Amino acid sequence: MAIRQIRVIGDEILTKPCKPVKEMNDRTRELIGDMFETMYASNGCGLAAPQVGIRKRLVVIDVDDENQYVLINPEILETSGSQTGPEGCLSVPGKQGQVTRADHVKVRALNEDMEEQVIEAEGLLARCILHECDHLDGKLYVDLVEGALADVEMGETEE
Ligand code: NI
Repeated sequence: MAIRQIRVIGDEILTKPCKPVKEMNDRTRELIGDMFETMYASNGCGLAAPQVGIRKRLVVIDVDDENQYVLINPEILETSGSQTGPEGCLSVPGKQGQVTRADHVKVRALNEDMEEQVIEAEGLLARCILHECDHLDGKLYVDLVEGALADVEMGETEE
């Protein structure tokens, strides 16, 4: 495994829609491992493939609930409720802002074995899933921020 370079805001790849993953292969397995390693090295709780320069519909998430999530070709089935809180992104280093998102989400995706899974999530995990899925459509949280982006101390959890 290896740590990959994280693309930052201003990089065109972060604004483009990503393509579905058609099959699992060694290259994609390596990408998944590298994405987890890259995310942990930066104290993030989620990372989407375009953030490491790959235009594929693939995200990894670990919000410290003792689960690692790999979501391939994710599809949001349902959202409900509302939560407002601070959000950050590894592609927007050193910043955070207040974002309102659904508090509950139901998502269907393939796992690393290309098996279908349906995940229901609330709170931080729901926020993270929605944030990462936005990356796959070329959207960044900065466009959802209420008020101004604020500076954060390095080392805080970012997505
Ligand atoms: Ni992000």
